[in-house]
Amino acid sequence: MIQLATRVTTVTPSITLAITAKAKAMKAQGIDVCSFSSGEPDFDTPQHIKDAAALALAKGKTKYGAVAGEAALKEAIAKKLKNDNQLEYTTNNIIVTNGGKHSLFNLMLALIEPGDEVIIPAPYWLSYPEMVKLAQGTPVIVDTTAETDYKITPEQLTQAITPKSKLFVLNSPSNPTGTVYTEEELKALAEIIVDRNLWVVSDEIYEKILYDGAQHISIGSLGKDIFERTIISNGFAKSYSMTGWRIGYLAGSEELIKATSTIQSHSTSNVCTFAQYGAVAALEQKESLQCVQEMVQAFTQRRQVILERIKAIPKLSCPIPMGAFYVFIDISQTGMTSLDFCDALLKKQQVAAIPGKAFGADNCIRLSYATDLESIEKGMDRIEKFVFEEKR
Ligand SMILES: Cc1ncc(COP(=O)(O)O)c(C=O)c1O
Repeated sequence: MIQLATRVTTVTPSITLAITAKAKAMKAQGIDVCSFSSGEPDFDTPQHIKDAAALALAKGKTKYGAVAGEAALKEAIAKKLKNDNQLEYTTNNIIVTNGGKHSLFNLMLALIEPGDEVIIPAPYWLSYPEMVKLAQGTPVIVDTTAETDYKITPEQLTQAITPKSKLFVLNSPSNPTGTVYTEEELKALAEIIVDRNLWVVSDEIYEKILYDGAQHISIGSLGKDIFERTIISNGFAKSYSMTGWRIGYLAGSEELIKATSTIQSHSTSNVCTFAQYGAVAALEQKESLQCVQEMVQAFTQRRQVILERIKAIPKLSCPIPMGAFYVFIDISQTGMTSLDFCDALLKKQQVAAIPGKAFGADNCIRLSYATDLESIEKGMDRIEKFVFEEKR
C-alpha cells in the first residue's frame, strides 16, 4: 500500500464535485436528474470574449508568458479595481492565477505558517478550511445563523481572535448563503482587523451578481489602514461565465504578490497565454456590461421563482439571498441531517442538491439556481413531493 503524505489525510475531498459528478453519471445513464448542485452559470461565455481569445491564439500568443500574467491583463485588472472597487493598485500588486481557487491557495501558501489560525465564518465556501489545512494552518470556524443573515458579528470576530490569529476570510456576496455585507457591517469588522493586526482576504468572485439594489463594497476601500491589511481575491468564472477558462487574480502588497509569484513560478507558471486575452476583453469591451446585466436579469427571475416555491413548502426556510446564485435552505424541521436529506433526495426523486455539511452547516442544503426555469420548477415539484412523503 502506498504511504501517502499526512497532509493529504487531513483534507476532505470536495463534496460539491462528488455530487455533481454523481448527478452527471446518472444523467449519462439516461436518468432524468434535476441538478441544483452546480456552482457555475449555465450560460455560454459571451462571444466577444471567445473572439478575443481566438484572435490571440491566431496571433501566436501560444508561448510561455510572464508568471504573474500578461501586462495587458494586469493593467486591465488594475483599472477595474480602481473603477469598480475604489482600490488603488499598480500592476506590481497583481498576480493572474488559474482561477479564484488557485489565488486563494497561493495566498495560503505564501502567508500561513504551521499553527497560524485563520478565522472563517460558517457557512463557508468548502475549500477555505481545506486550503488552510494544506498550508498547515488551523482553520477557526465561527458559526453564524440565519438570524444575522449568516453574517459574522463584530463580537464574534473579536471573540475568535487569539495571539495565533493571522487571517480573516471574508466572502461577500457569499457562497453558499448569498449574504451581502453592508458598508456599516464591513466598517465594524475593518476596525477590529486593523486594531488586532489581522490580515483579511476578501473573496469578491460574486461581486457582479446582486439583487434588489444590494451593493458590493470592497472592504479594502474603507480607508488606508484596512486597505493595507486587505488582499483581494477575484476571478472571471462567475461574472463572465468563464468557469472552464481558469482565470483569477489576487491583489495585495507588492511583497505578498512577489511571494505568490515565486510559488506560482514553481507550480503552474503562467495562466494559458491566449486565454488571458479573453479576460482582457471581459474587462475592457463594452459588450460585457450588457452580457452581465442579462445574466443577472435571468438569475433575478429564477431567484424569485425558487424563493416562492421554498416558501410554499412547510418545514423549509431560508433567508433571502442578496447576491450570488444560491439559496441556503434550513431543513432541520425535517429531522434529517443534510447528508441523509441529499442522499435520499437524489435516490428517490433524482434531484441533486449539496448537503450543508460541506459548508459547515449540517442543518441546511444548498440549491444553485444557475439552471433554467423549467428545471427549477420541475426540481422544486420533486423536492415538495419528497418533503411531503418523508414527513409521513
Ligand atoms: C466563494 C468562491 N470563491 C472562489 C471560487 C473559485 O472559483 P474559480 O476557481 O472557478 O475561479 C468559487 C467557486 O465556486 C467560489 O464559490
